[in-house]
Amino acid sequence: MSTTGFFRIRLTTIRANEPLPFDIFISLDQKIIPYLNKDHSLKFEKIQSLHAKDTGESFFVADTDKQLYRDYVKQSMNSNLIHNDQKATILRESSMAILEDLYENPDVSKALEESKPIISDLLKFMTEAPDSIGNLISLSGHDFYTYNHSFDVSIYSLGLGQALGFDAKTLEELGQSSLFHDVGKRMVDLSILCKKGALDENEWVQMRQHPQFGLKILNEHPNITDAIKAACFEHHESWSGGGYPQDISGTEIHPFARIVALTDTYDAMTTQRSYNVPMTPSEALNLMNGKLKGRFDPEMLKAMYSILFKMDAA
Ligand SMILES: [Fe+2]
Ligand SMILES: [Fe+2]
Repeated sequence: MSTTGFFRIRLTTIRANEPLPFDIFISLDQKIIPYLNKDHSLKFEKIQSLHAKDTGESFFVADTDKQLYRDYVKQSMNSNLIHNDQKATILRESSMAILEDLYENPDVSKALEESKPIISDLLKFMTEAPDSIGNLISLSGHDFYTYNHSFDVSIYSLGLGQALGFDAKTLEELGQSSLFHDVGKRMVDLSILCKKGALDENEWVQMRQHPQFGLKILNEHPNITDAIKAACFEHHESWSGGGYPQDISGTEIHPFARIVALTDTYDAMTTQRSYNVPMTPSEALNLMNGKLKGRFDPEMLKAMYSILFKMDAA
């Protein structure tokens, strides 16, 4: 179905009983048709029931209203009437729409530029509402897996970057690196990405090429920093060696890639997917600090412990 000219939104980002500043559309029989006109409103119960049925693919706003939508979300984030836990949901669900756009936009430089507001919103929220950070993490890994995963990895990475004392500029670049670390999965067959069940040998061969694919994509665009490229190309390397694609080790691996290696593994182990039972945070950390210990930068692993302990407590 063509959705050119529109972007997906989630209804949980819509405020009930308030006139909307933009039109909302739905997809029906392969077409996008108007659902609710500007200046109309939705009742709370209606939003809840529609959202419960939404697979994440049903509601759209016109590209021409993108800035209006972003301003609308910003108002919610600044409102005193909305609880921080609710704000976390809004931040996450509105970023998902933008992320989807980023992953599909052929102009990666532009997408990277557009990702900056997401990172600054995240950092602001993490500073202002540290008790609600846990609510930013997705509960379900079933829809939009790559986007959810990239978003979660970014939150963990930013938390880790903060714990390691990175300055604002570095955190911004780290956030972008994390959001785009799996950009190479764009070139992996969808049948492999969405496969319900374990991959066979051949499928793994292709899957394990996503760091190279990612580097290729990033190299095609000017002005992309070495750090962003390194996070993409080196995040499956291992501190003690034996990772891929280059089999480098220790400080040869860029610090951002060492961070993403940690947060990526942690997110993969703790997220529910169709074919696995997710580990609890402490099970995952125990495994990372036990059997998998050699894979990670020891200082970073220690810092990861402290931030997850904080998140868990919240
Ligand atoms: Fe990856
Ligand atoms: Fe990943």
